[in-house]
Amino acid sequence: MIRAHNLTLSVREGQHSRSVLQGIDFHIERGEWVALTGANGCGKTSLIRCFNGLNTPSAGSLTVAGLDMRPAHNRAAVKQRVQLVFQNPEAQTVGSTPFEDIAFGLENRGLARDLMIARIGEILQQVGLAHKTEAEVSTLSGGERQRLAVGCCLALDADMIIFDEATSMLDPEGRLDILELAQGLWQAGTTILWVTQRMEELAVSPRIAVLGGGQLLYDGSPRSLFYASALPDALGWTPSPAVRVGKLLQRQGWPVHLLPLTGQELEEIL
Ligand SMILES: Nc1ncnc2c1ncn2[C@@H]1O[C@H](COP(=O)(O)OP(=O)(O)O)[C@@H](O)[C@H]1O
Ligand SMILES: [Mg+2]
Repeated sequence: MIRAHNLTLSVREGQHSRSVLQGIDFHIERGEWVALTGANGCGKTSLIRCFNGLNTPSAGSLTVAGLDMRPAHNRAAVKQRVQLVFQNPEAQTVGSTPFEDIAFGLENRGLARDLMIARIGEILQQVGLAHKTEAEVSTLSGGERQRLAVGCCLALDADMIIFDEATSMLDPEGRLDILELAQGLWQAGTTILWVTQRMEELAVSPRIAVLGGGQLLYDGSPRSLFYASALPDALGWTPSPAVRVGKLLQRQGWPVHLLPLTGQELEEIL
């Protein structure tokens, strides 16, 4: 789905150019779930904007869905197939109702009107907004708006959805809701890149990439990140309660594959 080799991105600042991403080697297979993390300003959003053609790398190579991202027409083609869900729930709706918003996404499909209405119904059902079909978008909660944004990705039939800290402005219930919606899409075959700074969201990701200062610092499993790498401490992360207990067990000689990442795993172990 994504193949980046030595990807470098510079941005202009007045007379100068400043490098935001340096020498990133990174790949994502079709159907994978990968989490991307790192402190504010480390380059996460800049990187994912390369993946859907909004940013153009200054050097290195990048192919997305098999398309070389240098030619502008390939970048335009990829924008459809790789969709972003942003942080701010208020920033990503165009219609005044969920119905209109999904209809907007389906517009270029050339569907007959009755098929289009049926498809809108299916999508709103899938994202749990069937009961809000004709509601004013301004009356939706943050979580409902994020679900609507996911519905728009489905209307465009995206191969890959990138969630850019999409839960960071939601309450705990709304966060879990969007995470579970994304997990359902992943199980149905959509490739997911889940950008987050939340430990509990990293813990449920099979693969984690860590960016720091525009470079890829880690790419591997959550267990080896939390139990075999010095990086979380070096970056000053606060471990989750499950990992804090796991570290105590590790000191007593427990094998790494038995150490807990989530509260549920901790409960099972105890
Ligand atoms: N278009 C741009 N022009 C100038 N600076 C930018 C631009 N895009 C990103 N940056 C800078 O690049 C760095 C990385 O930002 P960003 O990718 O938003 O990080 P993150 O998403 O990890 O918080 C920041 O220092 C930001 O100010
Ligand atoms: Mg960002």
